[in-house]
Amino acid sequence: IKITIIDREGEAHLVDAPIDMNMNLMEVIRSYELAPEGTVGICGGMAMCASCQCYMLNKDHLLPEKSYEEEEMLDQAFFVQENSRLSCQIPMEKELDGLEVKIAPFNA
Ligand code: FES
Repeated sequence: IKITIIDREGEAHLVDAPIDMNMNLMEVIRSYELAPEGTVGICGGMAMCASCQCYMLNKDHLLPEKSYEEEEMLDQAFFVQENSRLSCQIPMEKELDGLEVKIAPFNA
């Protein structure tokens, strides 16, 4: 699928995200090195940091519900908006073709 990822500098990148490799959005961001090394995915995708926070710009109705762990983490994170999600909790699925997201500012 094709998704658009806007980096922390505001630059948009249209990237190919595989749907057959069990990848989540955080891993896609890392695989294309769209954020400086070590600033996205610090907890390894366990919903235990907020470094992978993204603002979801479309497709909200197709995104999985937030888990309790994701809600809790976002409650403690900085720069949270209504459309914030932890990108490690968003698996790459066929329906998400055309997804647009913006990487949130760095959360230590
Ligand atoms: Fe830590 Fe997503 S990588 S919450």
